[in-house]
Amino acid sequence: MTRQDMFDMMQAYKKTSLLKTGIQMGVFDLLANGASGTEEIADKLAADPRGMRILLNALTAIGLLESGPAGYLLAPASADFLVRSRPGYLGDMVHVMASDWEWDALRDLTSAVRTGGTVQDVHAETPGYAYWEDFASFAVAVAEPTAKIMTEVLGPWIRERGAVNVLDVACGHGLYGYELAAVHPEARIWSLDWPNVLDVTRQHAERLGVADRVNFVPGDMFSVPLGGPYDLVLLTNVTHHFSADRVAALLARLRTALKPDGRLVIVGFTVGDASPAVDPAPHLFSVLMLVWTAEGESHSVATYDRALDSAGFQPAAVYPTELPFRILTADVKHG
Ligand SMILES: C[S@@+](CC[C@H](N)C(=O)[O-])C[C@H]1O[C@@H](n2cnc3c(N)ncnc32)[C@H](O)[C@@H]1O
Repeated sequence: MTRQDMFDMMQAYKKTSLLKTGIQMGVFDLLANGASGTEEIADKLAADPRGMRILLNALTAIGLLESGPAGYLLAPASADFLVRSRPGYLGDMVHVMASDWEWDALRDLTSAVRTGGTVQDVHAETPGYAYWEDFASFAVAVAEPTAKIMTEVLGPWIRERGAVNVLDVACGHGLYGYELAAVHPEARIWSLDWPNVLDVTRQHAERLGVADRVNFVPGDMFSVPLGGPYDLVLLTNVTHHFSADRVAALLARLRTALKPDGRLVIVGFTVGDASPAVDPAPHLFSVLMLVWTAEGESHSVATYDRALDSAGFQPAAVYPTELPFRILTADVKHG
């Protein structure tokens, strides 16, 4: 790593601020509609011309815009990913990946390292946390590909059973259950999350045309009556909120809601044998869990296997994906 790399790392947050501001002000959408001059852009976005000139030049400096004789143009990647009306639009992910909630929590990273957990009064485990409404609204771009892969992995097992009842625990947007329901018309989904999140979840069920096969279970997954028995329980991208012991307790609870030949699916960042330098994603994600939860982090497959065993499940079958997530499936133990 070079001296310049060090300086770049010190200032990386400035690029995040520029990208976020450009998206939130609608700069990329306006340029896609043909605007190009500073005065015109400032006027249409109700901004000060000096402020807009500095922003546009900085967006050009970091490669998100290009400047030509007639003014500013979208760089190719901005045209693909940052224009709301285009199919590849990723801009809403700033509400998830560059949220003020994460930013505020990360400001206290040193205290979290000293304490061994979050020092925030309000954090990812707080009931009714508003961040999860944004996550449910805007995380579609990252959730959809993994939800589709999970649906493919489960395809043969579901087809063999025919009609399946599925509990999606801490469902967020609900896409894992709804992708599955879209492919398997006999599947019925029970979407569990905090009540404020389920208001958003319901909108995705309607958008995806599966709402008539969806039920909602509002409440805390550690205490709300789960109903059942279910063929399948989905537990996606939430086990990292908790310690290994708490994960084991949750799995034992979910086991009681499954049929004797039922199956559990866990999806999430999973620590493998490789060094963090080779497989950075789960380790960087653990930092967020450190500042944002009491005891959470990315767990290893070995940790899941111990939790599954103690909760009455067989060892996990592990499906690596090209994404930074792994898919684990585990069947209820016989006898
Ligand atoms: C990272 S999101 C995962 C959403 C979705 N399952 C996915 O894979 O994208 C975590 C979700 O867990 C929910 N959650 C966290 N703790 C919960 C609890 N104790 N009871 C119910 N839901 C909870 C949050 O509201 C949020 O929607």
